[in-house]
Amino acid sequence: MKFMIMLHVLGIVIWVGGMFFAHQLLRPVAADLLEPPLRLQLWVGVFKRFFPWVWVCVVTVLASGLSMIGLMGGMGAVHLYVHAMYGLGLAMMVIFVYVFFMPYGRLRKSVANQDWKNGGAALAAIRQLVGINLSLGLITIAIATAGAMLA
Ligand code: HEM
Repeated sequence: MKFMIMLHVLGIVIWVGGMFFAHQLLRPVAADLLEPPLRLQLWVGVFKRFFPWVWVCVVTVLASGLSMIGLMGGMGAVHLYVHAMYGLGLAMMVIFVYVFFMPYGRLRKSVANQDWKNGGAALAAIRQLVGINLSLGLITIAIATAGAMLA
């Protein structure tokens, strides 16, 4: 169980921590300093490196989470906060999969075609969805840790 919690929390730290850095720290600086062509190329470079890690985190968080539920006696035996975490976690994963195949796909194509207008629109969609996922991630961490303390 302890090993599963370690994998679970490592996955969360890389995923949610990476979103926090990108959304709250790198984004405003890039917006201030870089013109759209350079800024869009920067983000394609950043996502090309971050998103493969997010896939690893999604699989690790889901597999370790479901394994822990199994070890705790199954869905019927776990506390309400684990169900909430499972639901919020699945919502975060669906949002990531949508981002990866839709606006991120559009962003890469637009940058390859030097279509900065549509690239900007795709980046704006990614920014909004990553903002939602970051908020869900922080709320889920609060629910998970407070839940584990209160249960
Ligand atoms: C998507 C499916 C998920 C499942 C099935 C799941 C399941 C679990 C389970 C069973 C535990 C152990 C609870 C305990 O020891 O009482 C746990 C712990 C934890 N989970 Fe999740 N989880 C999921 C997603 C997430 C997500 C998305 C986050 C954060 C963004 C998260 C954050 C945590 C944290 C921080 C703990 C440690 C709580 C503590 O011991 O203080 N989990 N999770």
